[in-house]
Amino acid sequence: MDFFRDNTPDDSWEKLRSDCAGCMNCELGRTRKNLVFGVGLETADVMFIGEGPGEQEDLQGEPFVGPAGKLLDTMLEIIDLDRTKVYIANIVKCRPPRNRDPLPDEQSACIGWLRRQMDLVDPKILVFLGRIAAQVFIRPDFRISREHGQWFDVEGRRAMAIYHPSALLRDPSKRPETFVDLKALQRQIESLHD
Ligand code: URA
Repeated sequence: MDFFRDNTPDDSWEKLRSDCAGCMNCELGRTRKNLVFGVGLETADVMFIGEGPGEQEDLQGEPFVGPAGKLLDTMLEIIDLDRTKVYIANIVKCRPPRNRDPLPDEQSACIGWLRRQMDLVDPKILVFLGRIAAQVFIRPDFRISREHGQWFDVEGRRAMAIYHPSALLRDPSKRPETFVDLKALQRQIESLHD
């Protein structure tokens, strides 16, 4: 068992939200406008994990509401999902300045909140949006360009990484590969109900 994980069976969404509110575990707490906790179905089969809030997310306190979020909504729609059917959260809950990658110290300071969310949702399938989340949960040297769309076992759950929607906005030539990955995800979801 992971020593740093809060596996207490009496954890609850209410407790987690109140523990997390006002978090100052790292420097990002000083510059945020809003902490971005997570959104979606608290009993979802599928949990999407991004990197960290951007400008719009920081302003609105909700993950994936900026341009990348609009594309994520379209990606979900392609496989008959929407935000009410999945849970969406990030590795870090506060916006890194100028949207830089969250630093290793910031990730470690924040990851306990996400782990408690994962324990509470208890999803069957994890989808990592981009390299950063995949490197945290699959392998530190995970290569998104080579390994997106492959299935892994992460702590007993089926797990796949796909390109981050921001990467797909920057480079639309990656979209066909992501379409294939999304279809594989859809099949995996369907197989849960066989
Ligand atoms: N990018 C992320 O990784 N997460 C968000 O919530 C928004 C943009």
